[in-house]
Amino acid sequence: MSKNRITARERHADGAALLERLKEWCADAAHQDCRRCAPARRRSCADALADVLDESLAFFFDLFRTEESLMKALPREPGLHACCEHHRADHADIVARLSALAGRLDGEDAIALRDELRAVVEHWLQAHTREHDEALGRAMAASGIRPAKP
Ligand SMILES: [Fe+2]
Repeated sequence: MSKNRITARERHADGAALLERLKEWCADAAHQDCRRCAPARRRSCADALADVLDESLAFFFDLFRTEESLMKALPREPGLHACCEHHRADHADIVARLSALAGRLDGEDAIALRDELRAVVEHWLQAHTREHDEALGRAMAASGIRPAKP
């Protein structure tokens, strides 16, 4: 996953790639319970999930920082201000959910944590993009603001 991708298509591609990695993450497709695996494999899976979670947090921190700096360039209008507040609140919620998962890596089934991570990424890719990022893009276009090229 590359940094500094700021177009909607590039962000979507990064999110979709992350979801694909999470789908393929467990070698046993029918696997629903980590207790059936040997301890060494469980440790290996937990380490792999920690890597994906670290990468996800870095990706979202960078992306959200970029979006929130673009929000500051928008005209100071009450409607836009309210939209940006809701947008930033959803960013904070996504980061809080990911951070909470990171704090549970050592004590729970990696499969269950993987499913929660997938749910967070799917929320961002679908609901967040539709409700917040697309509105930000429209507000930027209406204001003549273009994101800086990396
Ligand atoms: Fe956003």
